[in-house]
Amino acid sequence: MMSGWNIQASVAAKSTTNPIRAIVDTGKYKPNPEKALIPLSIGDPCVFGNLSVTQYVNQQLVNSINSDKYNGYPPSIGYPSARAAVAKFVQTPSSPLSADDIILASGASGAIEIALTALLNQGDNVLVPQPGFSLYECICKSKGFDLKHYNLIPSRSWEIDIDHLRSLIDTKTKAILINNPSNPCGSVYSKEHLQQILQVAEEYHLPIISDEIYAGMTWGGAEFIPIASLTTVVPVLSIGGIAKRFLVPGWRVGWIAIHDRNNVFDQIRKAIVSLSQLILGPNSLIQSVLPEILNTENPEIARFFNETNQTLEKHSRLTVESLSKIDGLNPISSSGTMYQMIGFDTSKFNGIEDDVVFMGKLLEEESVFVLPGTVFGMKNYFRIVFCAPNEKLQEAYTRIESFCNRHRKN
Ligand SMILES: Cc1ncc(COP(=O)(O)O)c(C=O)c1O
Repeated sequence: MMSGWNIQASVAAKSTTNPIRAIVDTGKYKPNPEKALIPLSIGDPCVFGNLSVTQYVNQQLVNSINSDKYNGYPPSIGYPSARAAVAKFVQTPSSPLSADDIILASGASGAIEIALTALLNQGDNVLVPQPGFSLYECICKSKGFDLKHYNLIPSRSWEIDIDHLRSLIDTKTKAILINNPSNPCGSVYSKEHLQQILQVAEEYHLPIISDEIYAGMTWGGAEFIPIASLTTVVPVLSIGGIAKRFLVPGWRVGWIAIHDRNNVFDQIRKAIVSLSQLILGPNSLIQSVLPEILNTENPEIARFFNETNQTLEKHSRLTVESLSKIDGLNPISSSGTMYQMIGFDTSKFNGIEDDVVFMGKLLEEESVFVLPGTVFGMKNYFRIVFCAPNEKLQEAYTRIESFCNRHRKN
């Protein structure tokens, strides 16, 4: 090193690590060169090219580009027309919203970061699900916020252990964060369960951050209910975006919807607006097409939604049917999202002492890439993303079966 130069990375940078990326991007595990890789690891529906946004939406985007109307800076909280479209899309008869209640962000990720930063100081804590999406932890560690993990119960379709949730609350707790429908569990909460969560929030005067990025991606009788539609008392920041439901994660548009019937969020509204000024909102062109994308009254958009959900439902069924036949694996049915958690019994296998070893050996031997439950805080489970085309999924499940047969104790 040339003398005089000693450039250190900041504490914030060093504290920022995403457990998924830490495993996916290390290159530590290599697929078997003799078998084509089947990546069922990353929550990106575009990986295989079999699922894509409708051409109708693409055309709207082309029209926006050619209009030359969207080349300047939008307001940092987003164009009024885009925010009005989000308000209409997210609101329910019992939880009305206007454009003023919506702030656009760089994906749901950016929205979650803004919501947490608006509510917490360093040393404060937020209650988050376990297993849960690792970005919550990543953001909190980066900013010096504490998190406390409340348990989800696999045998109750991953409902929250309400007693455990309650036991974690202390004077530094500033919010309860829920994720419904859930990544990684694929679970969808009932009205009764959402009411139990609201009861705790009301009792302790805690706002809710509800990550609803998988809103509407449900099937088999499961209905997505926005938690804000069930309360007139608890203030809710609901998080959404177009990444998953519209199959365009790269477009990077998400939002915060502020549900605040009693004006207890006055300071938080101002804080959210201030924080939106840090990055000046998401890409103008994508914002410009939100009124078209989010218009569910348009038959083309409605058709696209139904078709995507039907495909995901079929893939979910295939996943559970194929993997539940394998001795030692225990898939817990999902009723939404694009994920499936599968428990496995280490006592049935030789030399597979935990989920990280399972993931590594499965990749090295069969070139099937799944994520270990550990990255979501749930040991001895693994998560499958079931967006791949049917035949790829079938091939992957056949390979998982041979892998398990090969490693099973006699
Ligand atoms: C639960 C959850 N919330 C938020 C996000 C981030 O969404 P976006 O791509 O809009 O930032 C994801 C992405 O995987 C997710 O699974």
